[in-house]
Amino acid sequence: MSKILFPQVKGMLHGGDYNPEQWLDRPDILEKDIQYMKEAGINTVTMGVFSWAVHEPTEDNISFDWLAGIMDRLYENGIYTVLATPTGARPAWLDEKYPSAMRCDERGVRNHHGVRHNHCMQSPEFRERVRIMDTALAQRFANHPGLLMWHISNELSGYCYCDTCRKKFQEWLADRYDHDINKLNKAWWTTFWSHTFNSFDQIDPPYANGENCVLGLNLDWKRFTTWSATDFMRFEIDTLRAAGAKEPTTTNFMEMFYDYDYWYMSKFIDVISWDNYPEIHNNRQSDSEHLLERSFNHALFRSFKPEQPFMMMESAPGLVNWRPYNKYRRPGMHKLISMQAIAAGSDTVQYFQIRKSRGSSEQWHGAVIDHIGTNDTRIFKEVASLGADLKNISEITGSVSDNKVAIIYDWDNRWAIDDAWALSNETKKFDETCMNIYNEFMHLGIEPDIVSSDSDWSKYKVICAPMLYVLHDGIGQKISDFVCNGGEFMATYFTGYVNKDLLANLGGFPGDGLDKVFGLRSEEIDTLYPEDQVTIKIRDKASTSTHSAAVYDYQELLRDVSADVIAHYENDYMAGTPAITCNKYGKGHAYYVACRTNQHDIEFIYREMLAHADIPFAKLPEGIEKHSRYSDDTAYDFYLNCTEDEKTIADVSGVDLLTGSEVSGELNLGRYQVAIIKK
Ligand code: GLA
Repeated sequence: MSKILFPQVKGMLHGGDYNPEQWLDRPDILEKDIQYMKEAGINTVTMGVFSWAVHEPTEDNISFDWLAGIMDRLYENGIYTVLATPTGARPAWLDEKYPSAMRCDERGVRNHHGVRHNHCMQSPEFRERVRIMDTALAQRFANHPGLLMWHISNELSGYCYCDTCRKKFQEWLADRYDHDINKLNKAWWTTFWSHTFNSFDQIDPPYANGENCVLGLNLDWKRFTTWSATDFMRFEIDTLRAAGAKEPTTTNFMEMFYDYDYWYMSKFIDVISWDNYPEIHNNRQSDSEHLLERSFNHALFRSFKPEQPFMMMESAPGLVNWRPYNKYRRPGMHKLISMQAIAAGSDTVQYFQIRKSRGSSEQWHGAVIDHIGTNDTRIFKEVASLGADLKNISEITGSVSDNKVAIIYDWDNRWAIDDAWALSNETKKFDETCMNIYNEFMHLGIEPDIVSSDSDWSKYKVICAPMLYVLHDGIGQKISDFVCNGGEFMATYFTGYVNKDLLANLGGFPGDGLDKVFGLRSEEIDTLYPEDQVTIKIRDKASTSTHSAAVYDYQELLRDVSADVIAHYENDYMAGTPAITCNKYGKGHAYYVACRTNQHDIEFIYREMLAHADIPFAKLPEGIEKHSRYSDDTAYDFYLNCTEDEKTIADVSGVDLLTGSEVSGELNLGRYQVAIIKK
């Protein structure tokens, strides 16, 4: 159980975005960069991300000589290249001659030339220029010994509302609804407000000044734009392949990204990579709380292809420059953030950027090499020290995780919850709800994966489905089979209300047969104001005692309850009725948490599910994260102290790969310290 992503590289990748095209008149700087990269243990750079205007300064005048020279020179020095297609930003001549490359905004108005990440993904003229560029790139660089992989475009995002996209949307809908407009009308429930369509060509995207309250339309638009971006990405991949490129492909994903469904996109790339920019040392959370959010993201990206490591394609050495407040990582934090990625399954630590730009909007963004241009800055030294650590742990490369717990996280469910005219827009908090569940397992030393409702669940023993409002076809049966066969399943309020078309499930919630699995039906969901005070009384089987816990935001009134009742509402109009239940169903258990609570208050449910599933766990000290990776014959347990305080962790034995010292029994970790225990 391991997979080396890049066999030509010894160990982990360490490097990042490098923009030598900004310094072509300074050969002295380029030489110095290579020297510094070697000193910092950097073995890879990502080039060409925004180089289109240098590659092709005027139409069809393409030359890569500058890039080839640098790639060769880097390779001679042991530094590999991740090569990007330059489609993240367009040269002025292209937009001037082919205005259809520029996106239209949500009123259908064409943007002006400028910024980046704003092309129309369906424009035939733009695609033709992309085809010419990517073909030339692949013809020149495919099979270059220094080339590791292809980086498709950059941070694909956003929507275009131009006429071409409108037409594509109509075609996509016609395919989805078998060219039968009545099927679409039924799915979208268009009789409501006289929204019935007579033909597909009447349908617009959800313009800001047009039709934007047919919920089925809004959701299908999101599904379509996911398809459109993926189609563009696949067009680039196909173009590279047709021109002879054999190297693996990736595109850099973003944290908790909202626009597109990454479950779909990730099927079409070889390796998952993402850009990790923690807002560390912020004024809302402790560092350890914030790092758990990063950890959730790592879990998400790992889970798209759990059988292999992922890549942390970008991260900031020092600081970013685009947040409301831009704080430097305090000493030691660089290593902690980087090791967290490795712990969670990344085989790379890559940065934006190797050398800081001299001008323009990212001139104050962190970099390995600062404007001062020396190798003795604090940041450079921390990067170099990490480079040395990565060499010492190179045996971990290729190892993967093996988790038995998963959390369901579907993009269309996220979108549908946010778009539903229900609950309170202030407190829907789907992402936060998922993360709170993730965190509770992490406190118990158990690292969950993230799955979609359509993923293969066969390796998991415990699955949680926070607010699974939308049930895809067949998911009721899938959950039923999972529990019947011995799985532990936890659902919450707002589960199983609608089908994939957002039509309410008739006959009670949770629908699609789940009422039987959970042994209950939900009749009302009530939204609380922050000031409302509702509590539940919990019967804690383990300690045979009861305790009260606060309810926030949502409470459901349950009926027809045949499941065991674990908690009752204590006040307000639901007083005395069940609030948390557990239904023995087949060989497993189906838990239903009908109200929003602090997960700490229901920790016993997590313990119970893990115990039923025979998964050993041990509560970790506050602020400690544990992650594990496995190769064929070795387990590596990572312990991260995400606080400034000394921490002691009990029952740890093995050799710490980072220090080489033997640990037997107790592991002491100082501020931000990391240990990797080999077993
Ligand atoms: C993103 C982009 C990079 C750069 C960084 C700055 O991740 O991909 O080009 O702009 O942000 O943090």
